[in-house]
Amino acid sequence: MPDVVLGETDEAYARVFDAMYSARAASGIVRNLYAQAMGDLYPWDVDPAGSADWPLMGSMVGALRMHPNQQLVDLGCGSGGVGLWLARALGVAMTGIDISALALRLAADRAPAFQIPDTRAEFAVGLRTATGLPDQYAHGLVCVDALGKRVQRPAVLAEIRRVLKPGGRAVLTSSRSRTVRAPTWQEDAAQAGLVLEAGYERPHEPQMWSRLYGLWIRHEAELRRELGDEQTDSMLHEARAHAPMLGNRQALVVTLRRPLNDASPAARRDPACPVVLPSTEPDRGGRRSPLFLPMPDVR
Ligand SMILES: C[S@@+](CC[C@H](N)C(=O)[O-])C[C@H]1O[C@@H](n2cnc3c(N)ncnc32)[C@H](O)[C@@H]1O
Repeated sequence: MPDVVLGETDEAYARVFDAMYSARAASGIVRNLYAQAMGDLYPWDVDPAGSADWPLMGSMVGALRMHPNQQLVDLGCGSGGVGLWLARALGVAMTGIDISALALRLAADRAPAFQIPDTRAEFAVGLRTATGLPDQYAHGLVCVDALGKRVQRPAVLAEIRRVLKPGGRAVLTSSRSRTVRAPTWQEDAAQAGLVLEAGYERPHEPQMWSRLYGLWIRHEAELRRELGDEQTDSMLHEARAHAPMLGNRQALVVTLRRPLNDASPAARRDPACPVVLPSTEPDRGGRRSPLFLPMPDVR
């Protein structure tokens, strides 16, 4: 899969993530602090750069509904653990896309540990809004903690729809404020020509971030020794800026589906050709099933 050529601004972002992955790869401290914050929900072999814990990994297996030998995309894959773990669990091929070339090298090096041959794990530099992947490439896609800012969401969802085969599913993590009014996931999905198939809240996730940020702050001296000042300053800035907002944060996981019989974006924009997107949400005895299912709280 060819790399996407990045513009100047994206190159600058890529350098920030390269530096982060390079520093973290040279030390076990960040991984250990994630493990402390997640407790026994920490999936050691996934080694996520975010909130991917055992409940999330398990729910993605169920939500993707993939068959062996199909094609999965891990969008914003970082060092690849989420996609590689899913590829092994589901017997599918995976392609990881990320802005950081260094993260992708780490990811490719990890494929043998997941018993995945080179022919079934590919990695390429790309953007969440421009992956460089062909149309209708994938049966399934995951994007964990990599959706980016809200303002970009229509472009990211349009790219996800383009890359998915009709009938394919994407599982995305996202978070939002409980008080700021924003378009719902139904609205965002429909605008992109996707169907919101399922979604649930992860109330334990903001608590995990709160524990993690507390650990980063308490281990400042060790972080400076292991990762250097630049990385530590950036982590502490994130911890101090985000921690106060966690009480108001709603962490969500949504499954979006490209309809089996969808029309092109041009046809959807044409008022003479209205497209009714089929709802795949199960209807139990005339009642809609609850869209957001609670997850058990963990300490
Ligand atoms: C929080 S990490 C999550 C990594 C991985 N999904 C996981 O759960 O371990 C976010 C990832 O998004 C990538 N990223 C940031 N901006 C991006 C963009 N515009 N296009 C593609 N990837 C991007 C970063 O390099 C980073 O690897």
